[in-house]
Amino acid sequence: MIINRRPIIQDGIIPIQLSSLSSENNQQHQLSEREELIVKHVKQIKIVDLEQHPAYNGPILFNQDVTFIIHVFKSTDEEPIEETTDEGGDVEEVTACKQSTLPNDSFDGLWESLIFDENVKYNLLEYAATTMRFSDLGVDQNLISWNRVVLLYGPPGTGKTSLCKGLAQKLAIRMSHRYPSGGTLIEINSHSLFSKWFSESGKLVMKLFKKIFEIVEDEESFVCVLMDEVESLTAARKSALSGSEPSDSIRVVNALLTQLDQLKRYKNVLILTTSNITEAIDLAFVDRADIKQYIGPPSAKGRYSILRSCLVELMRVSVIKPNVIIPKWTDKEAPENSYALKLKEIAESCEGLSGRSLRKLPFLSHAFYLNHINGSVDLSQYLNAIDTAIKNKILNLSGD
Ligand SMILES: Nc1ncnc2c1ncn2[C@@H]1O[C@H](COP(=O)(O)OP(=O)(O)OP(=O)(O)O)[C@@H](O)[C@H]1O
Ligand SMILES: [Mg+2]
Repeated sequence: MIINRRPIIQDGIIPIQLSSLSSENNQQHQLSEREELIVKHVKQIKIVDLEQHPAYNGPILFNQDVTFIIHVFKSTDEEPIEETTDEGGDVEEVTACKQSTLPNDSFDGLWESLIFDENVKYNLLEYAATTMRFSDLGVDQNLISWNRVVLLYGPPGTGKTSLCKGLAQKLAIRMSHRYPSGGTLIEINSHSLFSKWFSESGKLVMKLFKKIFEIVEDEESFVCVLMDEVESLTAARKSALSGSEPSDSIRVVNALLTQLDQLKRYKNVLILTTSNITEAIDLAFVDRADIKQYIGPPSAKGRYSILRSCLVELMRVSVIKPNVIIPKWTDKEAPENSYALKLKEIAESCEGLSGRSLRKLPFLSHAFYLNHINGSVDLSQYLNAIDTAIKNKILNLSGD
């Protein structure tokens, strides 16, 4: 019998344990055929997305009325394929796009690692589900329109790009039964499209989209196109007004928008875009986005959760010993737990730090404020080191 003795359901990996003794007659338990199949083929079982639902309120007991939605999938360890601007001649070669097969091992756990205060993740999943449902039902797009374009904007290091990649992975997992050919994430390098060789850019856009359309044509595959830093479109238009090659750059921006318009007609496509400049995104582009979601720096609660996840990881690899439980911000034990109290104090003291900076903080604290480089330290020592690092503004030192 495959057992899991956890009485409570929480996010996390469930170790697959096999009972070595049968409970009744104390004899060696023989695996059933089904159990053998699981042990042989299942790498891990994870419980995820509990907190995504707005009604969620803490751990759920097994004996409560819970509906499990189970997704079985096979992830690949394939490296991304890079397409370069290989035009020959003396023009420098740059990466035009990167193509990754989904679900991909390199994105495993990314979605779960992202912590936002609002229901950003839940809303994105619901948005994707609605685009699929409306397409499936054949809703007339002349009457009800949606563009399959998402724009995430906000300051640097707040998790926009990671969220797009995590979403692509998540959707590929959730929809693996619908798309037997699998999923693909295509990351377009906006900078290469709007490089200084505008004369080449038009050709590049066409070449790039030709490739994308080839993949999208297969209706049995799911495609996410990620365009990071779309503000480069605006930069291109601006340079058109003042620069040396006005017509070229305008043409490129328009070519790109036209291609995107054609792409969104396919129901197996989602276009994910990001920008870290709030005001200056190309208006024609902004207009095309169904969701324009601001992603800001985390709140104190978010900072607590991010740092907590870093500390849990450091305990997993025994940099911090012994292994102790740090309650979540909302756990009822938190107000009496000394680690939680200290971590709360730290989280409150570092307002404005982005997720990226927070994830760097434990590393820098170890490097500069702990003496036990080769040995383990306990959690209190580590928390003090983080505290000192913040007080000494270490992240400013490192350029954040
Ligand atoms: N809200 C968050 N929760 C957890 N981790 C985060 C969060 N925000 C950022 N991070 C971490 O910071 C790192 C950088 O994130 P990412 O590159 O996605 O940010 P970004 O918003 O795209 O930044 P930029 O605007 O500079 O491109 C990632 O490793 C990510 O895990
Ligand atoms: Mg980014």
